[in-house]
Amino acid sequence: MRPVLWTLLAVAVLFGCRKDPSVYTGPVGTPYVLELPSWVVDSIGPMLEATDNPLTVEGVALGRKLFYEKELSDDGTMSCATCHVQSHGFSDPRQFSVGTDGSIGDRNAMAIVNLGWSRHFFWDGRRTTLEDQAHDPVTNPIEMRNTWPVVEDRLRSIPTYADLFAAAFGSPQIDSIRITQAIAQFERTLVSFNSPFDRYWYGGDTNAISQAAKDGLDLYTRRGNCDRCHTIGNFTDDVMRNNGLDLAPEDPGLGAVTGLTSDYYKFKTTSLRNIAVTAPYMHDGRFADLLSVVQFYRSHTAHNSPNIDTAMHNFSTSGYSFSLEEQSNLLEFLNTLTDEEFLTNPAFSAP
Ligand code: HEC
Ligand code: HEC
Repeated sequence: MRPVLWTLLAVAVLFGCRKDPSVYTGPVGTPYVLELPSWVVDSIGPMLEATDNPLTVEGVALGRKLFYEKELSDDGTMSCATCHVQSHGFSDPRQFSVGTDGSIGDRNAMAIVNLGWSRHFFWDGRRTTLEDQAHDPVTNPIEMRNTWPVVEDRLRSIPTYADLFAAAFGSPQIDSIRITQAIAQFERTLVSFNSPFDRYWYGGDTNAISQAAKDGLDLYTRRGNCDRCHTIGNFTDDVMRNNGLDLAPEDPGLGAVTGLTSDYYKFKTTSLRNIAVTAPYMHDGRFADLLSVVQFYRSHTAHNSPNIDTAMHNFSTSGYSFSLEEQSNLLEFLNTLTDEEFLTNPAFSAP
């Protein structure tokens, strides 16, 4: 009797799963081939694709449409792209984003670039996948202020979506899981590896960046120590850290997520790709321009900030003290990380 029961149970579980249209049951659609320069895998490793949400041409196309879909917000005025603007590296030029009701947040909207290689999302790292991350803005009371049932109903009432969901996921069912999966697929295609720096460093084009930028790069990797955290390749090692912004920090950062004393005041080490166009800077957007950032690292780091990262110990008690010329070279170098193709790629713009 027992084996029969187990078989029945197994069958029930299998069919139970199949009946839930949100659960991935096998490939649907055309596999999406992400074109990456050959050096990327050697330099930063393969992209961390979710096994239950592989990239497909149809999924990415749907995700792009949803990223620009204003019906995600309560009053139909705001899409993801309202705060993540392509020409600004998919960040927000305002210090704090404004929600649909005019409420103002307390953190700067982050750039979306090469996030397929990231394991922490948000400044405080409170999400670990792009799929989970995409759930939050829709219901956030200082952002889109909506509820998922409302979003799902609205998208069901727009005739084109049923076909697009069927093409991407095998059936016309529309739900929050599929919506966030499609958005995450689109976000994984937002890759930027064609800056003047890339053409110089990986492509061997010695004229791609100026001599001042080369000197700035030298400072960046050697005495400047920037490379210890914003590692060459993706210009981040994806580690949560305190880089010494304040002696007595207010925002607890990762500490509020894990509750661990040793995690207080740690924030995501963001990528510096396209950094010249993603102002303002830091989790609270306190620096309006890159010069202010470099001046901070040069002479204003809070050496005794609690949980300050050991990589900051190489600095003197208040920063690197590099010369004005070195400072301007460093800025020149940071400007070579701007990838014009990424900022204007029509495949990433509103469909
Ligand atoms: C009202 C402005 C606003 C809207 C709308 C918005 N975001 Fe954001 N986004 C932010 C802010 C602010 C942060 C940082 C918040 C924090 O760290 O607490 C952020 C962070 C992120 C991150 C984390 C990036 C990283 O490196 O960890 C991703 C990804 C992202 N948003 C995607 C989206 C998507 C997808 C949507 C639409 C579903 C969206 N955002 C809608 C403001 C916005
Ligand atoms: C100890 C690791 C570490 C070192 C060394 C370091 N950084 Fe950072 N950097 C961070 C962290 C962490 C953040 C985010 C901090 C925050 O917002 O609380 C950051 C933020 C930044 C930002 C703003 C990013 C954004 O998206 O707003 C820039 C620009 C930057 N760093 C440049 C540099 C430069 C240039 C150097 C070398 C002079 C350097 N960093 C050295 C860890 C580091």
